[in-house]
Amino acid sequence: MEKFRIIGGQRLEGTVRISGAKNAALPAMAAALLTSEPVHLRNIPRVRDIVTMGKLLAHMEAHVEMAPATPDEVTLRAERVSHAEAPYELVKTMRASVLTLGPLVARTGYARVSLPGGCAIGARPIDLHIQALQELGAEISTEHGYVEARAKRLRGAQLRFEKITVTGTENAMMAAALADGETFIENAAREPEIGDLAALLNAMGARVEGAGTPTLRIRGVAALHGATHTVIPDRIEAGTLLVAGAITGGELLLTHCEPLHLAAVVEKLTQAGIVIRAEGSALRVHNGGPLAAVDVTTEEYPGFATDMQAQFMALMTQAAGTSIISETIFENRFLHAQEMVRMGAQITIEGRRAIVRGPAHLSAATVQASDLRASASLVLAALVAEGATTIERVYHLDRGYERLEEKLGAVGAKITRVP
Ligand code: EPZ
Repeated sequence: MEKFRIIGGQRLEGTVRISGAKNAALPAMAAALLTSEPVHLRNIPRVRDIVTMGKLLAHMEAHVEMAPATPDEVTLRAERVSHAEAPYELVKTMRASVLTLGPLVARTGYARVSLPGGCAIGARPIDLHIQALQELGAEISTEHGYVEARAKRLRGAQLRFEKITVTGTENAMMAAALADGETFIENAAREPEIGDLAALLNAMGARVEGAGTPTLRIRGVAALHGATHTVIPDRIEAGTLLVAGAITGGELLLTHCEPLHLAAVVEKLTQAGIVIRAEGSALRVHNGGPLAAVDVTTEEYPGFATDMQAQFMALMTQAAGTSIISETIFENRFLHAQEMVRMGAQITIEGRRAIVRGPAHLSAATVQASDLRASASLVLAALVAEGATTIERVYHLDRGYERLEEKLGAVGAKITRVP
């Protein structure tokens, strides 16, 4: 398995281009199942999850074209979906495969999708996805580790999520787009990726209103047509690189991002003493002096993103004082903490709270990546640790970061990928 080898101590300076958002591209690709016409997507990040989703759609007989000449574009055409199944072998590597459930049952009347199973950061059930589809009229059975959904035609309903779920909201939106009648979704997720999916669905002829607010209104249509859509920038990659610039005491300019999507993260980084300036679709970051410890609690958007929690923890190991980091979204998202402790960080875990005392001198070690964002936080810690850190199992990182070692290397990091 591949590893990263990072020699810490370099100030990062220069310009980094932010890629398209993986968590916007994945539902956009699944949405192509809703029409027989071509869907052309742009600003698609070259990350492993996108390749996995492409394989999954091809498995369903959709035509997937990822032209090497235009690597950030993909054209999908599900002229007919003869194989409405997402097999375990593919779903176990990417739980976002569950995003094909809603589109399949809406388009073909049938779907058989492997249950995703748990992952490092928590149980991550899909009970709310299933409940929403049942309320839209699907007959659901779960056996042998698969969810089977059947419906002659979905019908509009009054949905209310008892818990905010990003992909649950996305599944319900896509299913409701082709349902007979009107659907309301209460307590919907408000992440920018929801708004991006609504923009694509409406470009395909759907009638989705209220994206970004807790209540969505979707008037079903008989059929959807093809569209061309550019997905939004990756706010988590951008947040991760803001921390990289800050933690190394350097100065970075991040281009092709959307500063508005990072308001809560920028606010917390600013409180810690970091200087961040929005310049149109770019963000400039540099240190404003010694880092101060800041408390953070993860929340659904527009709150501080859980996907930025691990990265922020890495930063707080270098801040003067004590920072309390509370993780409210997932039950087991502190796996990175123990690895940072092995590098010399002073972190204690009390249930859903991590107490970080700093500044701590970090020294190089061999550490294990466990999930996508934990891996990113270990890269950030390694950038300031003394000596050469080895991070194992970087395939976790490759799921959601496009050529991170090249992007960091281009601005001064001493980082190499070791086979
Ligand atoms: C999305 O996951 C993202 N993935 C995650 O990013 C992100 O961490 C998460 O939203 C929260 O922002 C994609 O968009 C592909 P949820 P999702 O449903 O939709 C519970 C990354 O790093 N829940 O909003 O799966 C769930 O267990 C990934 O790219 C149920 O109980 O997250 C969790 O505690 C990691 N039942 C909470 O809700 C359900 O049916 C929020 O989960 C669904 C969710």
